Parts: sequence; structure tokens; C-alpha cells
Amino acid sequence: MKASDLLKPANREEAELLEKLDAKRLPDHVAIIMDGNGRWAERRHLPRIAGHRAGVKAARGVIETCAQLRVPCLTLYAFSLENWRRPQTEVDFLMRLLRDYLKRELPAIHKNNIRMVFIGRQAQLPEGVRKDITEAMRFTEGNTGMKLVVALNYGGRAELTDAFNALLAEVHEARANGGASFRAHEGDISRHLYTAGLPDPDLLIRTSGEMRVSNFLLWQIAYAEIYVTDALWPDFSRARLLEALIEYQKRERRYGGLGAPRARAESSSRAETAGRESRAGGTSRPVRG
Ligand code: FPP
Repeated sequence: MKASDLLKPANREEAELLEKLDAKRLPDHVAIIMDGNGRWAERRHLPRIAGHRAGVKAARGVIETCAQLRVPCLTLYAFSLENWRRPQTEVDFLMRLLRDYLKRELPAIHKNNIRMVFIGRQAQLPEGVRKDITEAMRFTEGNTGMKLVVALNYGGRAELTDAFNALLAEVHEARANGGASFRAHEGDISRHLYTAGLPDPDLLIRTSGEMRVSNFLLWQIAYAEIYVTDALWPDFSRARLLEALIEYQKRERRYGGLGAPRARAESSSRAETAGRESRAGGTSRPVRG
């Protein structure tokens, strides 16, 4: 299956980019720090909220494209724990925008078999927002297509703190029931994260040029490929997303190892050495892991 079988190019640029994209090697999880709405508006002498409105349009395009390409999971950083520091009018506008988005788009999201998940500290969100996101998750929970994860009132350190507290509570309960001593493993942390059950992001995209991870999915991005583009979020079109995916496919993911060709070359030379040594009756030296 070619990428152009999944996605109809709207113009020549998209057609050329689709030619370069391998539909069989797409990331399982794309996570995006959507940044630059304010600057986009400023450059046009518009109020910041106009930038956020344009940002919703960009989000809609990215969601649609990822779903069509059959990317299994897409996470968007919509509102951080730190975003409460913005003027109250902007915060209220962002909350309103999300509610309007859900009201308008939920039927299409559902029709496209997308499952919506919200991560973050929901208890601190306004009641109307909580009601709407609970309804969106319930409405789409049976869908089996792309998982659309929206990080709302989210912070990576807060998520880890919540996970550690949940794990501690589990340990206390086990102790109270006479359980034996306990050592945490990585899996014990993962299963208490908001993202439990989701794959870790393979690709982390940040728009508007800043080289920061901004407290986003700190545990989960351990091995993510990071792609930073100067495009401001409202300008992050389908073509810009395709460019990010093409760049991802050029990266060699080594997970701390040596990478396929070098690892193969080293292991065959190790095998040869071991063969020579055993034939000569020698002992094999320890090799670097
Ligand atoms: C950053 O721009 C963007 C945000 C604070 C997030 C808001 C995101 C949207 C409105 C997109 C909609 C998302 C969904 C899920 C519908 P900024 O204000 O930080 O820009 P600046 O750094 O240029 O000021």
C-alpha cells in the first residue's frame, strides 16, 4: 500500500511528498507540541485569540491526515498546567474553543472511528469542560481506529508524581494485606501513567522553533525522535506534517545500541573472532554489550 493510496494529494507539493513517504514505516505514535499561535496572530496584527482559532484549524487538518494515514495514535498538547498563568480572558477563550471544537467535530471524529482520550489533571478543569470531555471519551470509547489523545491541564512532572502516588497507595494496600517487600520496575511506573496502554511516542514534533520539551510526556519520550520546525502552529499544514514524517523515516533509531548495519558488522566480526579463537583453543574475550 502506497501513501498516495491512503491520502489524496491536494496539490503538486503534497503529491511529491507522498511519493517520498513509506506507508509501511509510519510511527505508531506522533506527539505534537503545538506552539506559535500567539506569534502567528501578532505577525498579522491580530489578537492572540485569532491565532488560537487558526490553531484549531491546523489541529483539524493534522488529525484528519494522521487518521487517513492510519497512524495508530496522535497526542496533541492543548493546555499545560503552566498555561493557567496566562490572562484569564485567554484561558477562558481556550476552554471555550475546546468545548466548541468538541460540539462541532465530535460526530465527524466518531464517524471516522477515532477514539478520543484526554490526559491531565481533570479535577481542576471547569465543570463544563469536564462534562464535555467525559462525554467525548464515553461517546468514542468503542472506536477502534486512531487514538486521539488530548493533553489538557497536563504536566509531565505532575503525571509522574500522580503515578508514584498511585503506586505508593498500591504498595501500602499490599503491605496492609500482608504483602512481601516490593521493588518498583519500569512497568510499574508506566502502568500508572495517564498514557497506560498507549505506545510511547516514536516522533515528537514541536512547531515554532523552540528547542524545548516543555514538561511534555517526560517519561514516554525517552526514545522519541524529535523534530522541530520553524513553522508556527497555524501554518503547520498537511505538507509540513508529511515533511516531518519523511524526516522521521530517515532517522536511524538505535535505542542505545549500535544500529542495524554497524551492529551486524560487529556481531559477525565477533563471531569470526570467536570462531578463530575456539579453533585455536583460546578463550573468547568479553565483548562490549
Ligand atoms: C500555543 O500557542 C498553543 C496553545 C497554548 C495550545 C492551544 C492549541 C490550540 C488552540 C489548538 C487546538 C487544539 C485542539 C485539540 C482542538 P502560544 O499561544 O503558546 O503561541 P506563542 O508561543 O506564539 O505565544
